[in-house]
Amino acid sequence: MPELDGRIAIVTGAARGIGLAIAAELTEGGAQVAIVDLDEGEAAKASAGIGGPELGFACNVSDPGACDDLLGEVEAKLGSPDILVNNAGITRDNLLLRLGDEDWERVLDVNLSGAFYLTRRVARGMMKRREGRIVNIASVVGLTGNRGQANYAASKAGLIGFTKSVAQELASRNVLANAVAPGFIQTEMTDALAEDTKEAIAKNIPLGRMGTPADVAGVVRFLVGPLASYVTGQVIVVDGGMVM
Ligand SMILES: NC(=O)c1ccc[n+]([C@@H]2O[C@H](COP(=O)([O-])OP(=O)(O)OC[C@H]3O[C@@H](n4cnc5c(N)ncnc54)[C@H](O)[C@@H]3O)[C@@H](O)[C@H]2O)c1
Repeated sequence: MPELDGRIAIVTGAARGIGLAIAAELTEGGAQVAIVDLDEGEAAKASAGIGGPELGFACNVSDPGACDDLLGEVEAKLGSPDILVNNAGITRDNLLLRLGDEDWERVLDVNLSGAFYLTRRVARGMMKRREGRIVNIASVVGLTGNRGQANYAASKAGLIGFTKSVAQELASRNVLANAVAPGFIQTEMTDALAEDTKEAIAKNIPLGRMGTPADVAGVVRFLVGPLASYVTGQVIVVDGGMVM
């Protein structure tokens, strides 16, 4: 029997990229996965190729009311979630002196506050059932910082602190929270980089290539499954050895 059989999962930002790969991987593991993204059509299209179009849900995770509505819809359709993967994330890169208030706030709102709204909402049910897994998709730049990404790095460092705090609060109820920190992964987010920048980055990766969304998804499947039942409050770096 697949190890996630009977589990209900929510993956945000799952219409494409890393989120889509995570949704596919958890579905293969036997879970029913709610595929959440900004646009209902895109979420339905993505879910059609995985568990069925009815598993696509629209939600802007930076809106706390929309997060409440989403949980209501998922609970009504699938049941109470056992697994939450906070993957939705955006970049608005600029050097510090040119970084506008709106680009600062937008990145923090989506990457950090979004994870808070959904985690708070799912935690109650998980604590009651004494079973739950939360995985937050951070980034290596949350550990190292990065020129031109003060907003993004701050949001991801914040997400790591959030993950560890939640892990401490919920451990006694057997609700486990971990973060995954990807390095450079081939998605639309990194497609925006210039070709020579990508080549320079690849040169600094010991494994000699950018990662794929599947490289990240496999680690998430491990963290939400039975093999990781004694792992909480950790940051698992998935970056081809770039940050050691
Ligand atoms: N690609 C990388 O190299 C890389 C590296 C480290 C971390 N990450 C993180 O991994 C996650 C996924 O990144 P990706 O590369 O697949 O990005 P992507 O841009 O390809 O996909 C992100 C998805 O999130 C959705 N989204 C954006 N804002 C949202 C919101 N407010 N509410 C709901 N959904 C929203 C988008 O519509 C999109 O489908 C992000 O958190 C990102 O910060 C990516």
